[in-house]
Amino acid sequence: MKFFADTAEIADIRDLAEAGLLDGVTTNPSLIMKAGRSIHDVVAEICSIVEGPVSAEVAALDTEGMLAEGRKLAEIADNVAIKVPLTWDGLKACRILSGEGRMVNVTLCFTANQALLAARAGATFVSPFIGRLDDIGLDGMQLIEEIRTIFDNYAHIETQILAASIRNQNHVRLAAMAGADVATVPPTVLKGLVKHPLTDAGLAMFMNDWKKTGQTIL
Ligand code: E4P
Repeated sequence: MKFFADTAEIADIRDLAEAGLLDGVTTNPSLIMKAGRSIHDVVAEICSIVEGPVSAEVAALDTEGMLAEGRKLAEIADNVAIKVPLTWDGLKACRILSGEGRMVNVTLCFTANQALLAARAGATFVSPFIGRLDDIGLDGMQLIEEIRTIFDNYAHIETQILAASIRNQNHVRLAAMAGADVATVPPTVLKGLVKHPLTDAGLAMFMNDWKKTGQTIL
């Protein structure tokens, strides 16, 4: 499973990229608001750090507006993936932008049928939102499983399942088990994957014993 960082914070993106853990980045209007910078500047800076797809979301709600904004965002760098919402107008925009050879991420997917439509519209990625479904008492992970089953039934579907709205380490593990192609993960959750108290305790014990040997390696 590939890892994308779900953030527009440059310091976090650099840190993850340096660890070789970053296959891409996703942003959205809320993340751009939090970053407090122009979408053009922040997406350009992210694209200069990360080689993989960097999702930048349109703000227009009609197809023509999405096309204009999507093409403008795509001018920022070759690795921009235009993010459009999973609406009727969004699907039309997806079809046209994909036909122009651009990467498109169809976002705000909450049902398997919506994902099927995104695939039919030629989406590069479809983003099912796990956490927001869990928030209303539904099972976000079941959605990933359903989409995986459906996409695997049709060999011609190339759309990648981008598990989004990931809130914890368990979401990452379960998304990988369900066969998500990509998980877009907040930096704190992604860095948290390394942590285990037994790793820390084991390391402390080994270091303690190592000191007692009086040896050095170099
Ligand atoms: C992904 O593309 C979305 O922007 C993101 O995962 C949404 O996550 P949230 O539900 O935690 O806001």
